[in-house]
Amino acid sequence: MMLNMSIWLGITLMLLCCTSWGSASTTSRYMRRLEEGVDLPENSTYFKIPKGYNAPQQVHIHQGDFEGKAVIISWITPDEAGDSKVLYGKAPGSKYTTSVTGEANTYSFYTYKSGYIHKAVISGLEFRTRYYYTLGTGDAAREFTFVTPPESKLDTPYAFGVIGDLGQTMDSVSTLQHYMKSFGQAVLYVGDLSYADAYPFDNNVRWDTWGRLVERSTAYQPWIWTAGNHELDYLPEVGETIPFQPYIHRYHVPFEASGSTSPLWYSIKRGPATIIVLSSYSAYGKYTPQYQWFLQTLEAVDRSVTPWLIILVHSPWYNSNSYHYYEGETMRVIFEPFVVKYKVDIVFSGHVHAYERTYPVSNVEYNIVNGLCTPKNDNSAPVYVVIGDGGNVEGLAGTFTDPQPAYSAFREASFGHGLLEIQNHTHAYFTWHRNQDGERVAADSAMFLNKYWT
Ligand SMILES: [Fe+2]
Repeated sequence: MMLNMSIWLGITLMLLCCTSWGSASTTSRYMRRLEEGVDLPENSTYFKIPKGYNAPQQVHIHQGDFEGKAVIISWITPDEAGDSKVLYGKAPGSKYTTSVTGEANTYSFYTYKSGYIHKAVISGLEFRTRYYYTLGTGDAAREFTFVTPPESKLDTPYAFGVIGDLGQTMDSVSTLQHYMKSFGQAVLYVGDLSYADAYPFDNNVRWDTWGRLVERSTAYQPWIWTAGNHELDYLPEVGETIPFQPYIHRYHVPFEASGSTSPLWYSIKRGPATIIVLSSYSAYGKYTPQYQWFLQTLEAVDRSVTPWLIILVHSPWYNSNSYHYYEGETMRVIFEPFVVKYKVDIVFSGHVHAYERTYPVSNVEYNIVNGLCTPKNDNSAPVYVVIGDGGNVEGLAGTFTDPQPAYSAFREASFGHGLLEIQNHTHAYFTWHRNQDGERVAADSAMFLNKYWT
């Protein structure tokens, strides 16, 4: 009886949290380690090189079209190009029915020369279907599997993991292992991948070690990439003057399928959601390509097909941590009126190495002379989730502004990941899982109500 009462009290509080703010802001007092982490050594077993000559490594997949019926498969062969062939079918082992051949490229960065980076696109897949695929030949052959998403329809349950700022420390491993115990079907990744730029001359060997670390998940389900500042790899002092080169060469996204002209901003439909990925570190002012594309993309979303509208962007627009405070402000000023107008449900960000969830909030009335510059509770506005707490070498961001702003519902500086369980066209249950707890423990949770349908 007491247990039932507790559950109902919890549910009631949770629902209240969705619709109002004021007295329920929480700054978690959970104690955790705040010092910087240490990257795993290059010879760590977590970066193990697969057996066999020239064996495919750093395997990762991404949705390959706008609808979800194609998959981009990418991998690296270290010694020679070989062919870029993928054998695939609905049964494992030698029962493959089809193959596709892609292409391989390399890039250089200062004194580093990459392995052969392969990209092959499998298209014409069936929705909600398990496929198996094999890369490499002989004793270097490796088999993986993935499941295509359900067709986009109004009431289509689907679960996304949410991870950001992962890096390659033991904390990163912990986040990855926790997430892999969840029921997440694809990852919304909010930027800052390898932290290779923590090394002299952005030692790109650390892009390779990171690719081998995350392969245990990225080979089996798509991680929807967002570019962060650690993807810039901008080093003019050694002649590297074109930003994002390692990232763009390694992590392929179907940007052209959504009418984008850059892999740094793009959109996909996946099950019940339209995901819009933005670039904090590309031009976004009025008249720029990203600005124009963003407005056209918002306008085109059909909420009767994909009821949930989600934005991924690295630098947060609402952040009450002193770390990276206000860095996302200019993008918020430019884009927030459209986000409110088109009833975006959730904006996920990273960059700040902590977790924070807001209530639905907007701040769109200020016009430089009217003084209306206080964020307000706005049920047409998104919830903002900052989740840059994957566990990288820079450590946690433990200093929050005081007092906690009214729009901030929950904040805590611990490493972890999120899980967004879309249940139907009106309800999505979001949980945040800190690494110190078992996977099924939610350190924070909230039921998000769809902005368009409720
Ligand atoms: Fe960042």
